[in-house]
Amino acid sequence: MRTDLFPTPLWTWKVAAHGDISNDVRSWTHEHTDDNGRWQSRTDLHTLGVFEPLRALILRKTRKVLKDFGADTERHGRLVITGMWVNHTTDHRFSHETHTHPNNFLSGIYYVAAPPTMGSTAFVDPRPGASVCVPRPKDHNSLNAMKQVLQPVEGSLIMFPAYLPHMVTSGITDDERITVSFNLTFQDGEMMAKTLWGE
Ligand SMILES: [Fe+2]
Repeated sequence: MRTDLFPTPLWTWKVAAHGDISNDVRSWTHEHTDDNGRWQSRTDLHTLGVFEPLRALILRKTRKVLKDFGADTERHGRLVITGMWVNHTTDHRFSHETHTHPNNFLSGIYYVAAPPTMGSTAFVDPRPGASVCVPRPKDHNSLNAMKQVLQPVEGSLIMFPAYLPHMVTSGITDDERITVSFNLTFQDGEMMAKTLWGE
């Protein structure tokens, strides 16, 4: 029997209301983008009325995440969105180096327009010691992977721990790519920061 200790979760949902939500995001993006190949919006989109359906959807989906974590939401409250922004890319040469989203619990991406000819999201193994010795693989699997590439599916929403390093690869043609990125953390920061063994 094999037991995988300390797994790194990635949640994926198909957005049922993708048609309506993505139309609003596309319109807002086309209205505000500088169309310069790679544009990133302001980071407080969760405060704007036009993004309210997406904000509400994200918060609904976090219930599953908190359930999976066995979180005691009675004590520290539920999650709140701390940042939300649009990434608009029309230059296939664009890539985004490996990064994390500090000072948050959870991060996520909603793929509004994600043609396969544009960049993918790649995740890098967050365990610092895992690459010290890697057997040369005959077949690739989750135990020998140092990087996992996710081919984005238009209309999908993903969430993952904010500590998980990730990057955007470059594409092969200049098709339009629109994503909404977001971060979440707990409502009650003071309660979260208390010792885990006290009351
Ligand atoms: Fe990111």
